[in-house]
Amino acid sequence: MGTAVVGKGLEGIVAANSGICWIDGDAGVLAYRGIDIHELAVHSTFEETTFLLWNGHLPNELALREFSSQLALARSLDQRIVDMLRTFPKSATPMEVLRTAVSALSFYDADEKDNSHDANVRKSYNLTAQIAMIVAIYDRLRKGLEIVPPDRSLSHAGNFLWMLNGVKPSETATRTLDIALILHADHELNASTFAARVIAATLSDIHSAITGAIGALKGPLHGGANEGVMRLLYAIDKAGADPVEYVRNMLAAKQKISGFGHRVYKTEDPRATHLRAMSEQLGKDSGHPKWYEMSRAIELYINKDKKLNANVDFYSASTYATLGIDIDLYTPIFAISRTAGWAAHVIEQLDDNRLIRPRAEYIGPVYPSHWIAVSERP
Ligand SMILES: CC(C)(COP(=O)(O)OP(=O)(O)OC[C@H]1O[C@@H](n2cnc3c(N)ncnc32)[C@H](O)[C@@H]1OP(=O)(O)O)[C@@H](O)C(=O)NCCC(=O)NCCS
Repeated sequence: MGTAVVGKGLEGIVAANSGICWIDGDAGVLAYRGIDIHELAVHSTFEETTFLLWNGHLPNELALREFSSQLALARSLDQRIVDMLRTFPKSATPMEVLRTAVSALSFYDADEKDNSHDANVRKSYNLTAQIAMIVAIYDRLRKGLEIVPPDRSLSHAGNFLWMLNGVKPSETATRTLDIALILHADHELNASTFAARVIAATLSDIHSAITGAIGALKGPLHGGANEGVMRLLYAIDKAGADPVEYVRNMLAAKQKISGFGHRVYKTEDPRATHLRAMSEQLGKDSGHPKWYEMSRAIELYINKDKKLNANVDFYSASTYATLGIDIDLYTPIFAISRTAGWAAHVIEQLDDNRLIRPRAEYIGPVYPSHWIAVSERP
């Protein structure tokens, strides 16, 4: 066909111009709007980082206050969404529930049909607030617990923990989750964000784009990996096995280890640096360092033996486990954070849109191949 052959999985292909997120995979650098993730993880909050992603610059004091209160004000869910959550089967995972509920949110958003920049920003506030609420509410419903109303005086991270657990979260838990949300908020053209941009570029709507992104995030090669890590740690613990021995056998059987490897980073994933530190600290503080210690032993082995680095998902597993969060909420928490990035990318795409429609290198039967009557087919 004369089209260029590209690497499998679009490896190395630059598919968009974007001013949101910069990654240097060789040097292990990640920056949102030019600001290094290490600075944001230490100094910022999820609210401030979301403002940065959506607006391109850090907010001043007043702008930050207004932004945070608008996000808090958006903590409201139509009763019909809550009623719908009650009807889902017990077997539905929180990621499946989130995917379905986010699609339905559009029915009750006043700006549903408006694809203007301002309407998409308004919808982004709603989606960011509502996605966190859906995860917390569904978890309580499936456990037969009362729904906890949102507390608008709390941060995004704090309110999520409050609505999830029904007790005011500690400062440590809130800040730990806040940092995790900062670290997961955006990552350039990762699979789910690319999916969101492709959907948005058809001039569909932001709810469709984020629904599609959630579907992509759910996969074990993407956001689903953090749950895979914890399932592995549980399996090793249950078997009373040596973590290194267990993982060595998996690798010998050509199995992949969740939480390792990355398409872009050829060195340490800078997000893993912070999650490792948080996992270790929480382990020490709680007196339950088991998950951290197992993780560290596995990491050192895989690092040495396979030259693979831990990615963002590896230490988020032990971090969330030590916070007492259920395993199937790990990927939804990733979605709670990544909504900020998905929204930024949808808005950027629509501000200067062109349909995304690549070509395929044709490798099928030779053309022309002819139709033959069914009686004459072999
Ligand atoms: C992230 C990931 C999907 C990137 O995939 P990719 O760029 O397509 O890289 P590949 O899957 O082709 O891997 C390249 C090589 O490294 C190996 N590899 C990569 N990740 C591995 C892992 N987690 N465990 C074991 N081997 C791994 C592959 O087997 C392959 O080896 P080979 O060349 O001998 O066949 C991949 O590293 C992976 O599956 N990781 C586990 C899932 C995960 O943690 N996902 C979250 C990413 S943030």
